[in-house]
Amino acid sequence: MSGKLAITDLVPLPNSTVQIPRLGFGVYRAVGDKCVEATKTALKVGYRHIDSAQFYGNEAEVGRAVRESGLPRNEVFITTKIMTPAGSPDATYRKLVESVDKIAGKDGYVDLFLIHSSKSGESGRKELWQALERLLEEGRTRSIGVSNYGVKHIEEMKAYAKVWPPHVNQIELHPWCQQRVIDKYCKEHGIVVEAYSPLVRNYKANDPTLVAIAQKYGKTTAQILVRYALQKGWVPLPKSENPERIAANADVYDFEITSDDMTVLDNLDQGAAGAIVEAVVNE
Ligand SMILES: NC(=O)c1ccc[n+]([C@@H]2O[C@H](COP(=O)([O-])OP(=O)(O)OC[C@H]3O[C@@H](n4cnc5c(N)ncnc54)[C@H](OP(=O)(O)O)[C@@H]3O)[C@@H](O)[C@H]2O)c1
Repeated sequence: MSGKLAITDLVPLPNSTVQIPRLGFGVYRAVGDKCVEATKTALKVGYRHIDSAQFYGNEAEVGRAVRESGLPRNEVFITTKIMTPAGSPDATYRKLVESVDKIAGKDGYVDLFLIHSSKSGESGRKELWQALERLLEEGRTRSIGVSNYGVKHIEEMKAYAKVWPPHVNQIELHPWCQQRVIDKYCKEHGIVVEAYSPLVRNYKANDPTLVAIAQKYGKTTAQILVRYALQKGWVPLPKSENPERIAANADVYDFEITSDDMTVLDNLDQGAAGAIVEAVVNE
């Protein structure tokens, strides 16, 4: 990855004409008006990709923020997620449609709909995917993908998927949890890898290795972590409700981490033990 990265960068999804903005904005735990304000601030400073979920309870607020931003709908990439199947393919499909309606209105669409978790069992995962495929066919989402899926879950999909590979796999990724097996597998198959909790929720702000690198570049530890994720070829989704931090986390395009310093950060990997949310199960 070179220093020529830009906030406007787009990444193509596999077997699709859709492109996803390389920098995303997370809204987990941002609720009500705070979510609306944070999302509008993010759009004002140049983010064009918002990551929501049914589980976050803020889909309507994300939709409102995008409308109030004044940006054309097709200039913003909106993701949401479904956690569990609803008991039948039809009921699951209706839950998906409800989300799209909430975000974008009865005639609207989302850009990406993900299965939030791999923990629904094989038949649950199949029901979720088939409902997503139907939503994609009907044009209410422009792409579909998975989250927290290991190699075995994506391989299993081959038995029933009409759309394979999934366009995206969203997983926890930062220097302490690099998930190298699934990252490599996704890259080999063209699956876009999104990095959630890329700031490690600020828990590593005092890590001496990270602090030394931040000082060397004259950047904050959060900026180093966002830039690290971009240079790894991931699509990071940093979250903040604070206007200064929202802007600062996206101000990462005037420097490049050297390959030696990327290696120093790579060496912080603790495998699954480094996860603060969850590491995927590959086998
Ligand atoms: N698919 C999944 O299972 C899954 C799981 C987790 C997360 N996600 C997605 O990924 C997004 C990001 O992950 P995350 O929210 O878990 O964690 P994160 O982005 O790593 O960190 C967010 C936390 O760091 C703080 N923060 C943000 N910028 C900061 C800065 N510059 N300096 C100091 N602290 C800062 C935020 O507080 P303030 O808001 O006060 O700034 C917030 O508490 C989520 O919002 C969600 O969209 C997905």
